[in-house]
Amino acid sequence: MRRRNNMAKKLVLCLLTLCLAFDFITPGPLHENVSMSMTPRAHKKPGPVKSIFKRNVIGCRNDTQYPFQDLCCDSCKPGSFAKREGCTKDNPTTSCEKCIDGEEYMDNYNYHPKCRRCGHCDTQHGLEVEKNCTIHQNVKCRCRSGYFCNSSEPCRHCDPCDECKGGKILENCTQTNNTRCDRTEIVQDKTASIVAPVVVSIVVVVAIVIGAMWYVRKKKKTKEYNVKEEPNGMLPLEEMKPLHYPDIDLLPHIPVIAEEMRQSDVKAFVRRLNVKPSRIDVIINDNPNDGAEQKIKLLECWYQEHGMKDAYKTLITTLRDLRFRATADKIEEKINGARK
Ligand SMILES: *[C@@H]1O[C@H](CO)[C@@H](O)[C@H](O)[C@H]1NC(C)=O
Ligand SMILES: *[C@@H]1O[C@H](CO)[C@@H](O)[C@H](O)[C@H]1NC(C)=O
Ligand SMILES: *[C@@H]1O[C@H](CO)[C@@H](O)[C@H](O)[C@H]1NC(C)=O
Ligand SMILES: *[C@@H]1O[C@H](CO)[C@@H](O)[C@H](O)[C@H]1NC(C)=O
Ligand SMILES: *[C@@H]1O[C@H](CO)[C@@H](O)[C@H](O)[C@H]1NC(C)=O
Ligand SMILES: *[C@@H]1O[C@H](CO)[C@@H](O)[C@H](O)[C@H]1NC(C)=O
Repeated sequence: MRRRNNMAKKLVLCLLTLCLAFDFITPGPLHENVSMSMTPRAHKKPGPVKSIFKRNVIGCRNDTQYPFQDLCCDSCKPGSFAKREGCTKDNPTTSCEKCIDGEEYMDNYNYHPKCRRCGHCDTQHGLEVEKNCTIHQNVKCRCRSGYFCNSSEPCRHCDPCDECKGGKILENCTQTNNTRCDRTEIVQDKTASIVAPVVVSIVVVVAIVIGAMWYVRKKKKTKEYNVKEEPNGMLPLEEMKPLHYPDIDLLPHIPVIAEEMRQSDVKAFVRRLNVKPSRIDVIINDNPNDGAEQKIKLLECWYQEHGMKDAYKTLITTLRDLRFRATADKIEEKINGARK
């Protein structure tokens, strides 16, 4: 009874060992059903020991074939996926199916259970489609015009190109490089934008000053005329002051005054001051060939009629009024010189 028992134990042990060994060497049939299913590849991967074992035994062409149990099956071509993984000894073909055009792609030999989804080009990130997605290739994106790629390939994000506002473009923006700007131009522009207003304000200020000076001078002159036209010197003292002419006796100065004036000037002067034309004619006729004497006599005639009061002032302002300004200046100079 004991012997039989021992024999039975040995048999069981032996069977167990055999079974374990068998499982190691021939991994096939037990797993077949699982392998043929469409669950994702990761889930049906055999344990690591078996996997290594399998590859060691079977030398598949790794780019176009894949190992399946003890077989090498043909991979699916780019543009398709493995509808069902695996093949038979008689036919290495895998059951493949095309990807959906425009939605999915597969760009390599594979035995994936489905295709990859096409990417898209994010316009928000400045991207646009360079090549549409095909079943063989994912979409290719590039930067839209006016954007450049600020990252290495593949481009995921584009930045807007520099517009070189106010500056000059040295190099246009490209897919991968930003615009190169001439910054010195911008600096110059800035300088110009500062200098220009300064120059303009200086010009304006100078113009105002000149205008003011001109206005003051004109007013002064108007005043002079007013003074002259005032018959009795009834102007307020302040207004007369700058044009103050003393009531000097002009008689001794008349030869000097006459010397400074041409005969026509003297005639115009005495006419302006209302010396009667008949008297003028008499004086001229009395001294037919002596211009100098005519001038003296005419001036004396005026002076006699006018009188000493305001005579000097009238003389100068009238000469000025007749635009004999240089003459007026010279006469003033001579009379003032003689009085000192
Ligand atoms: C094999 O897989 C099919 C479905 O693919 C399933 O119905 C069947 O029960 C499986 N057989 C075994 C032995 O796992
Ligand atoms: C395919 O073979 C090459 C060498 O020929 C090897 O570098 C590569 O890793 C292999 N690929 C796979 C998926 O085993
Ligand atoms: C991509 O396809 C669309 C239509 O689906 C077409 O309008 C567009 O021009 C294509 N783009 C390129 C770059 O081929
Ligand atoms: C991308 O732009 C950022 C600033 O937006 C900059 O810091 C970075 O250096 C740029 N990278 C490249 C590769 O030009
Ligand atoms: C930049 O491109 C424009 C046209 O888009 C062209 O007129 C200009 O000459 C180019 N500038 C340079 C520096 O290449
Ligand atoms: C583009 O920029 C890189 C540096 O970002 C530079 O090395 C390269 O020369 C530039 N290319 C052109 C055409 O300017």
